[in-house]
Amino acid sequence: MNTLVVYDSQYGNTERLAQVIADTLRASGQAQAVRVDPAHPVSFQGVDLLIVAGPTQRQRMSPALRALFERLPRRALKDMPSTVLKPASPGTQGIENNNHIKSFL
Ligand SMILES: Cc1cc2nc3c(=O)[nH]c(=O)nc-3n(C[C@H](O)[C@H](O)[C@H](O)COP(=O)(O)O)c2cc1C
Repeated sequence: MNTLVVYDSQYGNTERLAQVIADTLRASGQAQAVRVDPAHPVSFQGVDLLIVAGPTQRQRMSPALRALFERLPRRALKDMPSTVLKPASPGTQGIENNNHIKSFL
C-alpha cells in the first residue's frame, strides 16, 4: 500500500505526528509525509491512502492546506480512502475543520 501523509505545521506538532505515521506505515509498505507547499503541487498519483494532518488555526484549517484543497475540483478525491487528523485540542473547532477538508475528498 502506498500512503501519502500531507501535512502543514507551524510549530512542529503536526509535523511530528505526520512523520510518526509515515514511519510506522513504512514498516508495511510505501509511505511518505509531505509538507504542503504552495509552490509545489502535491501529486496524488499512485496513492492508495491519503492522510491529511493539519493544525487548527483560527478555528479553520491552515491557509496552506486550505489552498491545496481549494485548488482541487470538489470531490476530486472522493474515491480515495482518506482520513483527516489534527493535533488534539479541546472544543469543537475540529469538527468544522475536518468537514471543510472532507468536502474536497
Ligand atoms: C495562528 C494560530 C491560530 C490558532 N488557532 C487555533 C484555534 O482556533 N483553535 C485551536 O484549537 N487551536 C488553535 N491554534 C493552536 C494550534 O492548532 C496548535 O497549537 C497546534 O498543535 C499547532 O500545530 P503545529 O505545531 O503543527 O503548528 C492556533 C495556533 C496558531 C499558531
